Amino acid sequence: MTETIKEQTLGQLGGKGSVLARQRRDHAELDRLMDHYALAGGDERERVLKEIVQLVFSHAFAEETVLWPVVRRGVADGTELTFRVEEEHQEINDLIAEVERLSPGDPVREEKIERAFSLIRQDIRDEEDLLLPRLQEAMNAARLRRLGALWEAARLTAPTHPHPVIPRRPPGNAVLGVPLSGYDRSRDLLGGPIGQGVRKLLRWAAGLLLAAFTAARRLRERS
Ligand SMILES: [Fe+2]
Ligand SMILES: [Fe+2]
Repeated sequence: MTETIKEQTLGQLGGKGSVLARQRRDHAELDRLMDHYALAGGDERERVLKEIVQLVFSHAFAEETVLWPVVRRGVADGTELTFRVEEEHQEINDLIAEVERLSPGDPVREEKIERAFSLIRQDIRDEEDLLLPRLQEAMNAARLRRLGALWEAARLTAPTHPHPVIPRRPPGNAVLGVPLSGYDRSRDLLGGPIGQGVRKLLRWAAGLLLAAFTAARRLRERS
């Protein structure tokens, strides 16, 4: 049985471009941001929360779109393992959707943020200790790096907020995620109407996300 990816060297993970190393970097950044949120106050606290939400949703969407289908296909108990993290993602999605409807300072909002943070930490442990080591057993370093590039492409163009209409699995999540990603990113960048330049950027982003989804499907068809 392969050990947790938390303690392994970059070389063991397949290099810095491997999906395992990319996952661990994002997880460490989420941990750092959640710790920072606990200590921050006022506007800084809200800014950190916004960063956490954007990172959590793009990270999880890219997992569900390109990574978990490969795990289900290539790992013996991949279906159960991905089902467990999909449930965690769904619960985080629902909690953050409620947080976004409540006002800062509301104690109910703070409780939901705490619950979401503890689920994010649980999700990280399940992935680093159980799911990703199984993927590591099933793939060589070159494939882990190829999957890393596809996951990154999907992550960079994924939705950055919770959306109850997006299913957890492909192809529905990719089809619905593309237009919602455009909506989210314009909201994050501008907080206002979408200009011509941004429209172009969003078309490019949607193309990249669909390309990553298609390439991941090919990768898992070959496995
Ligand atoms: Fe992850
Ligand atoms: Fe996750």
